[in-house]
Amino acid sequence: MSDRRPIGVFDSGLGGLTVLREVVSQLPGEQCLYVADEREAPYGTKTVEALRARTEQVANFLLAHDAKAIVVACNTASLTALAHLRSIFTVPFIGIVPAVKLAATLTHTGKVGVLVTSATAHSESLAQLINSYAHGTQMIMHECPELVTLVEQGMLIGPLVEDSVRLEVGPLLTQGADILVLGCTHLPFLTEVIGRVCGPHVQLIDPAAAVARQLRRVLEEHDLLNSGKKQPPAYFTTGDVEEFRLRLGQLMGEPNANIQAIDV
Ligand code: DGL
Repeated sequence: MSDRRPIGVFDSGLGGLTVLREVVSQLPGEQCLYVADEREAPYGTKTVEALRARTEQVANFLLAHDAKAIVVACNTASLTALAHLRSIFTVPFIGIVPAVKLAATLTHTGKVGVLVTSATAHSESLAQLINSYAHGTQMIMHECPELVTLVEQGMLIGPLVEDSVRLEVGPLLTQGADILVLGCTHLPFLTEVIGRVCGPHVQLIDPAAAVARQLRRVLEEHDLLNSGKKQPPAYFTTGDVEEFRLRLGQLMGEPNANIQAIDV
């Protein structure tokens, strides 16, 4: 049996698109609804309470559109609100968290740079994750809201971007990090520049593909998979539609996407 209901995916803005592209590529038969909550961005400076309340509103919107499962395509929201969302809704929620466990197994220097938002850096869940799985590895947390802003402005390459990345990442390299965890879903859009700045001996980790695999497992487990034909995602933004269309063309190569403004 195929379940044709859509999968909801959301983030504060464009970052979650790095997760959406993995979901679309691994589960092409699924219809995805993507919410870019741009009016409320950035999530990284909000309190835990505000993030729980806001993500609940976005989840309600997706559920009203019949979502059978929801991907919280944002590290900040997953770390602070995922347990809350799971406790109040019955559909499966899949989150994304910084890949500190994998990083701890890969590092040779014992030092890992973790690029995150402020709310992520201070989240209890991340501290617990590190405590449980990365004991003995030095996790050097670094907040990088400027890099999130660059992505939101569509600035992914060029000397200005390179300078900003060097400023953020340089100190982590100087401290001996040989792994960089991209702990914010906006950052994979900067992989080309981050990789160039870090050089070939530093490994970047983005867990988006693993999230899409986990989504498939959860859908299979709950008998929710749809093996229908390939469908383009539908997009919703709480921000400006034309601005979002421009970015979508740039980031996803989808200039004619179906986008609606929403006031959630
Ligand atoms: N993309 C989000 C994350 O993964 C955060 C960006 C923001 O601060 O809104 O944490």
